[in-house]
Amino acid sequence: MRWGSTCGRMVAAAAGIAVLTLGGSYAVAETPVERGAYLVTTIGSCGNCHSPRDAGGHIVPGTELSGGFAFEDDVGHVVGPNITPDLGTGIGTWTEAQIVTAMRDGRRPDGTLIGPPMPISVYRHLSDTDVTAIAAYLRSLKPVRHTVARTQYKIPLPPSYGPPVTHVDEPVRGETVAYGGYLANFGHCVLCHTAPGGGQPFDMTKAFAGGRDLPDASKPNPGTPGAVVISRNITSDPVQGIGTWTDAQVKHAIVAGVRPDGTKLVRTMPFDWYARMTPADLNAVVLFLRTVPPVKTP
Ligand code: HEC
Ligand code: HEC
Repeated sequence: MRWGSTCGRMVAAAAGIAVLTLGGSYAVAETPVERGAYLVTTIGSCGNCHSPRDAGGHIVPGTELSGGFAFEDDVGHVVGPNITPDLGTGIGTWTEAQIVTAMRDGRRPDGTLIGPPMPISVYRHLSDTDVTAIAAYLRSLKPVRHTVARTQYKIPLPPSYGPPVTHVDEPVRGETVAYGGYLANFGHCVLCHTAPGGGQPFDMTKAFAGGRDLPDASKPNPGTPGAVVISRNITSDPVQGIGTWTDAQVKHAIVAGVRPDGTKLVRTMPFDWYARMTPADLNAVVLFLRTVPPVKTP
């Protein structure tokens, strides 16, 4: 179903000229589960934190989203929970509305707060249709029985992420900077590509300028000494960033994990998921990225 939906959207992209003149949205009949599947398995890259990996950092087939990927981080010992609808070990008892509340407000049905690095701050900007589609897709998955440990936080969690989100407008889909920005937000590029600083966990004056320590997902104990990777500057700075890269080179890094000089990116950068984006969505993300002003790496 996931591949079917991707192919459907590629056909839509090929027919893009006609479709775009119809107001910038894709004229594809798509069910909520198909939309959710696309978002989760491509730009959302939920499996980057929520799926178990083998020793090489590859996701173990058949275990997607069943939790257990664990790493050391500034916030503590992080473990991605099982988000398949298994009744005992996953989120099988959660309703669609409860999953939406978890995504937007970071609140579980029992009232407890979901902590970082679950990217609640960016999921608050998901449109009503998209967040509901993600919830519908999670509920449609085959339950995978897999008990995983809880995250052990060494920082206090905030009391909340802000007032409950009740409505977010639909973005106009198309190969535009605005829709690229919507997708890049959901893909939380900025959270991995921005370093802490100025007393804040993210120094937004240096947004996208890289320099953040991240767990190396291809190492046995990600986040421990020797198993850390530093994110790169993806602003348009010509020296430290990607300002001199061609669009084709930027796309190759995003979907294949290979830089213009041929070196490979570690699997912390979610290129395995981004590879399944439609060409139109990838174009939009790159259009947006090109608008990020040059900033030096901290
Ligand atoms: C950067 C890592 C990361 C990404 C990406 C991520 N999550 Fe999470 N998520 C977590 C962690 C860690 C927790 C548990 C936090 C805690 O223990 O408080 C969590 C918790 C959750 C929960 C609550 C589960 C429970 O039992 O408490 C849901 C639902 C969820 N994530 C869904 C998603 C979906 C859907 C996506 C993709 C759109 C996603 N997550 C992407 C790290 C991530
Ligand atoms: C989970 C963290 C994470 C997310 C999310 C993420 N990246 Fe990355 N990205 C990395 C890391 C880490 C590297 C460097 C990997 C290495 O050096 O092996 C990287 C490297 C890159 C590079 C290559 C830059 C260079 O000079 O080598 C590009 C381009 C890039 N990311 C773009 C993006 C875009 C666009 C997004 C959002 C759509 C994104 N990244 C989301 C972690 C992330």
